[in-house]
Amino acid sequence: MSVIELSHVSKKFGDVTVLNDFSDKFIDGEFITLLGPSGCGKTTMLRMIAGFEKPSTGEIRIDGNIVSGGGVFVPPEKRGIGMVFQTYAVWPHMNVFDNVAYPLKIQKKSKQEIREKVEQVLGIVHLSQYIKRMPSELSGGQQQRVALGRALAAEPKVLLLDEPLSNLDAKLREEMRFEIKEIAKKLNINVVYVTHDQSEAMTMSDRVIVINSGVVQQQGTPVEVYTRPTNPFVADFVGKVNFLKGTASNGRIQLEGTQESLLYNGDLSGRVDVAIRPENIHIVPLSDDGIKGKIVSEYYMGENNDCRIQLGQNQIRTIADAGSYGKWSGQDIGLEISDFMVFPESGEDYHKILT
Ligand SMILES: Nc1ncnc2c1ncn2[C@@H]1O[C@H](COP(=O)(O)OP(=O)(O)OP(=O)(O)O)[C@@H](O)[C@H]1O
Ligand SMILES: [Mg+2]
Repeated sequence: MSVIELSHVSKKFGDVTVLNDFSDKFIDGEFITLLGPSGCGKTTMLRMIAGFEKPSTGEIRIDGNIVSGGGVFVPPEKRGIGMVFQTYAVWPHMNVFDNVAYPLKIQKKSKQEIREKVEQVLGIVHLSQYIKRMPSELSGGQQQRVALGRALAAEPKVLLLDEPLSNLDAKLREEMRFEIKEIAKKLNINVVYVTHDQSEAMTMSDRVIVINSGVVQQQGTPVEVYTRPTNPFVADFVGKVNFLKGTASNGRIQLEGTQESLLYNGDLSGRVDVAIRPENIHIVPLSDDGIKGKIVSEYYMGENNDCRIQLGQNQIRTIADAGSYGKWSGQDIGLEISDFMVFPESGEDYHKILT
């Protein structure tokens, strides 16, 4: 159990600020995910928490004790932190058993204890049958799991995971998500997890911190950042979204390039960006006063029907149920929009078809 507090932490490399004035408190047992595009500062943040990098300004505390800042710098090995690096370095000259046992040997555990712990951890990361293999005889995904096993074996109070599933195939990645989450819960450790995969962030986290260019855009539960994003960047980054331009006035938003308008009782007026998630657009029979569209293309996905729809001069995407596939080809359709988000016009060209 542990608390990590970061106060006004910034990091500069030369003149370039890669993390700007970050403050937050990760509480006991919390599963935090840092989500953001490549280069936004995620790895840099983990490296500062772990002690591989010094903040340029600001302070980091673990369990109330300063580990960085105010003239103090506690080295990584004294912070009680386990980290799986993005490049998942495993010792090339040690087999799987010795790699995972390494931190336990440093802790001077008994031979019996080490064997039991390593076997338990290898079971968790699905590597029991590879116990004697050398890293050169393992795939990238298997090596990544050795690194995860090694970090878990030491039972750290804080676990920092930098894209630990990036080299696994889709099925194993999904399975491991739940296992990591379960392990974290069982051990009641803080996890700071880095990913740029929004579905990983959604399924695993208690709290998601969305970062862009070193600046926090929003932090909140997965439900909060998905359903109430604070700006178009977050709306776009945490899920699929259609952006349309519009004008809000008198309780409605007139959608640009269409004859259609939406009922709107929010505070904004004038030019706005409207963001609509595909699952909130429903295909219905055309009615006189409903929104009118036409299916441009549809892709049968097995579990659903992924459609592009012409709406005036815009194309939007919806995920319809699989049974609708082929049913509306070439016909005018009605559209019901069950939920949408509105932002002040950003000036950025968010008007685009989803890919
Ligand atoms: N030692 C360094 N010296 C100079 N610039 C650096 C250094 N380390 C990182 N950077 C820069 O800082 C920025 C943030 O890097 P960081 O590795 O934290 O990004 P990231 O969010 O982890 O990206 P990715 O998803 O690609 O791993 C990048 O622009 C990177 O080029
Ligand atoms: Mg990184």
